[in-house]
Amino acid sequence: MSLTVLKPDTRSCSESALVLIKPDGMHKGIVGEVIGAFSAGGLKLIGLKLVKVSGALARAHYRHLATKKFFKEIVSYLMGDLHGKNPVVAMVYTGKDAVAACRRIAGSTNPEEADPKSVRGKFGRVTTKGVFENLVHVSSDTKEARREITLWFKKSELLA
Ligand code: TYD
Repeated sequence: MSLTVLKPDTRSCSESALVLIKPDGMHKGIVGEVIGAFSAGGLKLIGLKLVKVSGALARAHYRHLATKKFFKEIVSYLMGDLHGKNPVVAMVYTGKDAVAACRRIAGSTNPEEADPKSVRGKFGRVTTKGVFENLVHVSSDTKEARREITLWFKKSELLA
């Protein structure tokens, strides 16, 4: 009788998250600090590039929010219309519980409610129109992360 040795499947513990530094990050000159905050989380950076965001990409990215009253503003915000037409820094982090870890580092959606030590708490603001300029985007869950990573990155742009 042969014995089957069960090895732990380490891949199932690992997941990826899309992290975007929105155009206000470059406008404010804090890209290095923000990347530092995410890199300190112990996750592996497997993709990194600058993207001049088109309307089509911004609308596809936020497609789940298309019916919200702030949709137009967040599309303009991602395109850099409010921040000198600056690009987005798009990144993919991978590792154990990457989505939850990156969301913790980012802080709450509303910068006024975010932990003051989080990226959004430190650098974000709420505009007079009520739009959350929260500096970073992080995938909301693993399914959304897979969709977003495919939207923003070609397979060849990511480390295996
Ligand atoms: P959402 O995907 O709900 O939040 P998160 O980015 O934390 O996953 O919302 C997308 C963006 O829409 C959010 O980053 C900022 C903006 N937003 C507003 O401006 N006002 C709001 O009331 C909400 C919920 C979001």
